[in-house]
Amino acid sequence: MSTTQKIKIFDTTLRDGEQSPGASMNMEEKLRIAHQLEKLNVDIIEAGFPIASEGDFEAVRRVAQTIKGPEIAGLCRANFNDIDRAWDALKFAGERGRIHTFIATSDIHMERKLKMPPAKVLETAVKAVKHAAAYTPNVEFSCEDAVRTRLEFLAEMVAAVIDAGATTVNIPDTVGYAIPFEFYNIISYLRENVPNIGKAVLSVHCHNDLGLAVANSLAAIQAGAGQVECTINGIGERAGNCSLEEVVMALRTRKDIMPYENNVRTEHIYGASRLLSTITGIVVQPNKAVVGANAFAHEAGIHQHGVLMDKETYEIMTPESIGLNTNKLVLGKHSGRHAFIARLQELGYDLTKDDIEKAFVRFKALADKKKEIFDEDLDAIVADEIIRIPETIKLLQMNVSSGSFAAPTATVELEIKGKIKKTAVMGDGPVDATFKAIKKLTRMKPTLINFSVGSITGGTDALGECTVRLDLDGHEVLGQGAHSDIIVASAKAFINALNKALNAAQRKQVHL
Ligand code: KIV
Ligand code: ZN
Repeated sequence: MSTTQKIKIFDTTLRDGEQSPGASMNMEEKLRIAHQLEKLNVDIIEAGFPIASEGDFEAVRRVAQTIKGPEIAGLCRANFNDIDRAWDALKFAGERGRIHTFIATSDIHMERKLKMPPAKVLETAVKAVKHAAAYTPNVEFSCEDAVRTRLEFLAEMVAAVIDAGATTVNIPDTVGYAIPFEFYNIISYLRENVPNIGKAVLSVHCHNDLGLAVANSLAAIQAGAGQVECTINGIGERAGNCSLEEVVMALRTRKDIMPYENNVRTEHIYGASRLLSTITGIVVQPNKAVVGANAFAHEAGIHQHGVLMDKETYEIMTPESIGLNTNKLVLGKHSGRHAFIARLQELGYDLTKDDIEKAFVRFKALADKKKEIFDEDLDAIVADEIIRIPETIKLLQMNVSSGSFAAPTATVELEIKGKIKKTAVMGDGPVDATFKAIKKLTRMKPTLINFSVGSITGGTDALGECTVRLDLDGHEVLGQGAHSDIIVASAKAFINALNKALNAAQRKQVHL
């Protein structure tokens, strides 16, 4: 294999990633992520599944229209309706539009889900690829559940779709079942047994049910796959997908034995990870490889000593290489607009003048209460003031009395679709009273699945951050809120989740 083989990075955060419970994003949020992926310089952005809903269609169309550089893919099943709808959204990307069509190829899926014999599945796939290829030469075909597919049939399918016009053929481990050695063998088998394999790029798409998605993707690359499908922070259905930051940093760090190139600008990885977790409310676990809060923290004395003597004793990659600036500039009450804007830009936020103004007002208010403002505080401000829109329900003001004598009471004033409403409600505790008041005013009846609070930085004056996970009519939503008063942060998180639910419902044209 040549030493300069290029691996294409196909990001599916906006499609497979969005299938994570509670990760649904609105159009504005998807566009923000797409811009960050553009900065990261991924090769392909899978922007959605256009036939799934009006919202998905619009998101793919807007991403195709707006993003320059990466190719834009849209997913569709192997039927003409799906493909036509996908191309209607993708055509705005012109030659960069990629139709990604799929059908399941494993016996269990063909028999029990599709109820089709293999020959029919093969015929359907070929027809679909030919139909897609009439729109664009940029056609990807995925053999869903490829890992559990009989190898001879997989090879037959891959050869047939390449003949029909597929220029990328994807081998997904849909259920996260493979182990690395096995994946290596599957890709090797296809390279040896598919006569026209040289006419297409072989791709790998791994789910993480056994925690092996990155390892399997690397094994596939070593066997000759030329594209890896992944998501930021590894979000995705169930245990998630192969994590972009892990696979890219593994390739970069172990170039000595994996001599492959890719186009990702790794210094934007940390910004992408933070932006995604701010938008979705899905918190990155502290010990997560590459982007977790502890990934570059050296606690043990012996390690600290080693790192001080020579970083390479315990550090296999630098924080700077993923865009994590360890010399954080701290802002405070005397910091002016200039320093504030410069810091936001360094953190990767491209904000409009109006957005900067909103964030600056909030920054000044916080700086009056808190001596030092850290990057994490700025993230929370940007998330709270700018990213979390649109708000059908707005918190105007609230007051809570609680303690060991009187019953906790929350007085909450909201603006709901332009109308101001106020109520006071008692509860078992201040948070319970607050949530009850919000439920009463909005007349929404979510079930609280999970509630967590944390402080964004250290100190008693720190911003508190709250995350709630709600169930509304069977749909899970996550909400986040930050404030120096933790009860206000809780109210904001609760309202943020309700706004997300309303937004998702509007996108799907469901009336609550
Ligand atoms: O996991 C999977 O099989 C998929 C395909 C649709 C590519 O996401
Ligand atoms: Zn998948």
